[in-house]
Amino acid sequence: GSSESGQGMGTGFAPVAPNTEDAVVIPDGYEQGVVIRWGDPLFEDAPEFDFYGQTPAAQAKQFGYNNDFAGLLPIEGQPGKYLLVVNHEYSTEVFMFPGYKPEAISKEQVEIAMAAHGLSVVEVHGEPGTGQLKPAFGKYNRRITATTEFELTGPAAGSDLLKTIADPTGTKVLGTINNCSGGVTPWGTVLSGEENFNAYFIGKAADPVSAERLDRYGIGESDSPHFWEKFDKRFDIAAEPNEANRFGWVVEVDPWDPQSTPVKHTALGRFKHEAANIHVTADGTVVAYSGDDERFDYMYKFVSTRKIEPGTGAASRRHNRTILDAGTLYVAKLTGDHPDRIDGSGTIPSDQGFTGKGQWIPILRAGEDGRGESLVDGMTAEEVAVFTRLAGDKVGATKMDRPEDFEASPKTGKVYVALTNNSKRGTDGEAAADEANPRNENKNGQVLEITDDHAGTEFTWSLLLVCGDPAAADTYFAGYDKTEVSPISCPDNLAFDPYGNLWISTDGNALDANDGLFAVVLDGDRRGETKQFLSVPVGGETCGPVITEERVIVCVQHPGETDDASVEAPASHWPDGGTSQPRPSVVAVWKAGGGRIGVE
Ligand code: FEO
Ligand code: CA
Ligand code: CA
Ligand code: CA
Repeated sequence: GSSESGQGMGTGFAPVAPNTEDAVVIPDGYEQGVVIRWGDPLFEDAPEFDFYGQTPAAQAKQFGYNNDFAGLLPIEGQPGKYLLVVNHEYSTEVFMFPGYKPEAISKEQVEIAMAAHGLSVVEVHGEPGTGQLKPAFGKYNRRITATTEFELTGPAAGSDLLKTIADPTGTKVLGTINNCSGGVTPWGTVLSGEENFNAYFIGKAADPVSAERLDRYGIGESDSPHFWEKFDKRFDIAAEPNEANRFGWVVEVDPWDPQSTPVKHTALGRFKHEAANIHVTADGTVVAYSGDDERFDYMYKFVSTRKIEPGTGAASRRHNRTILDAGTLYVAKLTGDHPDRIDGSGTIPSDQGFTGKGQWIPILRAGEDGRGESLVDGMTAEEVAVFTRLAGDKVGATKMDRPEDFEASPKTGKVYVALTNNSKRGTDGEAAADEANPRNENKNGQVLEITDDHAGTEFTWSLLLVCGDPAAADTYFAGYDKTEVSPISCPDNLAFDPYGNLWISTDGNALDANDGLFAVVLDGDRRGETKQFLSVPVGGETCGPVITEERVIVCVQHPGETDDASVEAPASHWPDGGTSQPRPSVVAVWKAGGGRIGVE
């Protein structure tokens, strides 16, 4: 119960040491099991996975590739049964197709890859006496792919900027792609961020305005790594200049209605959304926090006009699904309290820390009537919604070190941002270190803690962690004894356990060890204590953590994906072992013999 929370309760486990094993390594006294793998059937009539005989039709009924976000939603009235909602961020073709040759990619391979994107909704059932979860062919099971129909809502819906040959209304998009992190809403839906959508498009524009927009979103002339444009012309800017504008949104999926049309919310702006996570204020205002995961890009929040309606009845649900369509979008500007101390080395004495103030600059108002109002000189409301990065540039937002997951603590309301790394900080005329991004050529990242006036425009901030090897002078663990913490590098996803500790999963460990999951104490004498709970197999990224009393869920994304990844000799054979191809999978970890995670 909450009376027991605080002071690091829930982090009582022996930390896992940094390692390079091709396995999920967990603390002594814990057990693990694979919940679901790429290719596992989600429907009774779906075929079993066959690496040598995969088809687009099979993949569309099986669990997709590269699981990132995971949400675990209890099914009301059915103890031990949940909906597991998972993002499938992208395809790693070299591990998906036997004998894969990029230059000879086939239409069928592209169609399989498209069907391996999007999201999965799958019912999972707990097994008595363990924390293991087993997939079931439940009535809510659903695959959403790169060809599923979505509805655009909010101030840019129907805009000329979103119209295409196939959709002259500018309101219907086929598919969602590169869905990275996500969040579960208090009204029972799932939000998911369309992140590196640029990697699916190819092309350039003759006119300078369009060229600047494409460039700011990283769309270029070289072949996209997935080659979809070879078989589907909507991914070729020359054939369909507006299709790329229809990706880069926060999408909302109602997992309780498999027939529902998922939505893309234009009021939250278009950028490389890592996710959106909701905080509800005392008066029912909904605040959605979202980072733009790019070097030198921005942090945003959306504050709703409509208030949340409690309950899960049909009328409340209908109302709550419109909350993200009316409100104000803001971008963050940060200042440090100690500008004269920053030299880019990040070696501010740890007892003084890194602190500052911030301002939320309003850029777009989305009206109750569906109309937008631009708050940025020289841009229309539709332009602010669709080219949000350019609006952030104009108002002087603060360039951050790749804002990934951005989430408020359900216990304290303090908001945390994983700033994963930025190897270009301070190089080649790029922005130099500042107090919130205190290191040039930042390889290990940092975690920002914000005390926000959620519906307001002012905040204060401090750095909770400056990540890396704790033995190095440029790391900081909220002033905690650095000889007593685990090394941590490249924070990516954030989650909170039932006691209020922050759990961080990593992507891209720059300390010569596999990525992992870490628990960080936020309050009391142990604030800043950081302990590694698990590590993932070679080449994998740790994602989507869910921490409950009885289990930890992680997604293992792109196992085997090393610099020299090859289909003939993958660096990982997890989870099936032997000489098998690696398969991105969801894993559950629980305490042997039962009991609460991290509670001795
Ligand atoms: Fe897909 Fe920003 O991580
Ligand atoms: Ca991420
Ligand atoms: Ca999260
Ligand atoms: Ca990442």
